Amino acid sequence: MIIKPKGTVDIIDEEARIWKYVEELIDSMMEKYNYNYIRTPIFEASELFHRGIGNTSDIVTKETYDFKDRGDRSLTLRPEGTAGVVRSFIENKMYGTHNLPVKVYYNGTMYRYERPQLGRNRELTQFGVEVLGSRDPMMDAEVISLSYNLMKMLGLNDVVIHINSLGDKESRDNYREALKNYFEPYLDQLCEDCKNRFHKNPLRIIDCKVDSSKEFFKKAPSILDYLNKESKDYLDKVLEYLDILEVKYVVDDKIVRGLDYYNHTVFEIMGEDGKLALGAGGRYDNLVKDLGGPDTPCVGFAMGLDRLVLTLRERDIKLPLKDNAEIFVMYINEEEKKYAIYIANELRMAGFRVETEYTARNLKSQFKRADYFNSSYLIILNSDDLNEGLVTIKNNKTKEEEKIMLEYLIYYFDEHLDDDEHSESEENHE
Ligand code: HAM
Repeated sequence: MIIKPKGTVDIIDEEARIWKYVEELIDSMMEKYNYNYIRTPIFEASELFHRGIGNTSDIVTKETYDFKDRGDRSLTLRPEGTAGVVRSFIENKMYGTHNLPVKVYYNGTMYRYERPQLGRNRELTQFGVEVLGSRDPMMDAEVISLSYNLMKMLGLNDVVIHINSLGDKESRDNYREALKNYFEPYLDQLCEDCKNRFHKNPLRIIDCKVDSSKEFFKKAPSILDYLNKESKDYLDKVLEYLDILEVKYVVDDKIVRGLDYYNHTVFEIMGEDGKLALGAGGRYDNLVKDLGGPDTPCVGFAMGLDRLVLTLRERDIKLPLKDNAEIFVMYINEEEKKYAIYIANELRMAGFRVETEYTARNLKSQFKRADYFNSSYLIILNSDDLNEGLVTIKNNKTKEEEKIMLEYLIYYFDEHLDDDEHSESEENHE
């Protein structure tokens, strides 16, 4: 038996229906916030991620899936979505052809060679948004509140945004210096990774999970004390706007993020247990320029859908998942079967979710199958009725039956299946 690669998942059955629900909610929410869908390649030139995410980040040093294609090109499966969106923005010259800011969202698989565990996969799915071309703190607040509101709409009312600022370059340079001075005497007590970070990227020492319990660690300088006035004002404005949007947040100076492109706002979306981040993001004003485009300030975030669905299931949150097939068309003989094929097709084209029989089972088995699909209505075809232009409809909840004219079927279900998605078909039949 061939089994799936380590760190990948099959999403099936009930879980798949939750995924679909979440993804449809995301699409409809993005429409309301006026973000356009964007789809970029799953593999890109390796250099994009090395330059974009940063050569010292864990993702690039330890986690990318790199390969050479048959033309000897160095390619990498995308470990995240931001770098690809920025590349696309530059390559398609969106800065010239679009009205800024460009607001886009994506939903797709990413690849990271991590040690698999609950909520940590090697093939993961992220929903993310990127806004390119605005330096207004209002934009940071919109992006944060959008992720927060999505959680609330899914019934996750206890999420808290952990927010911090990495300031501008001047603030970060000063902070980096302060961290180096502080940690230097403790260098031999730091973990191997942090010894490396000390030289290459001291900011990352701050979110080390290994060293954080050590006593000297707790007294390490805070970035908040090193923000210059401009950076401090920027953070204050973001917080002020978050208050207007009624987002629950805590300022958390331990959030520094694992990707190198951030400045000013950084944040993580934490569930109640505060263990795994459901999502994360921040402002990255220099990435477009670093990748060869014009100076374009940006902000965005990405949410791990695997973790989100896991959390919904762990909490046993009941979502209004749709019945599999609201109408089940039943028949026995060949003549009825032809009507079944015709009726199922007509109803599907009118916007109803319809199932029928494909393996010539007896009626009893067809009833069972209809129950399995949670069907609300059964259309029970029989030749005598059909000869008179009639069909029997059974309400599968009340068990009441009635006969109606075949040509009124669509009107009947328009009236009896009260569902938003049929409003279009209702209009069409008026
Ligand atoms: P990130 O923090 O690397 O940020 O990932 C964002 C989210 O993806 C995480 O909070 C987590 O929910 C999910 N995630 C990451 N790795 C895994 C994994 N191995 N298994 C399951 N879920 C995972 C970014 O990727 C940035 N591009 C976010 C961003 C967008 N910043 C600005 N714009």
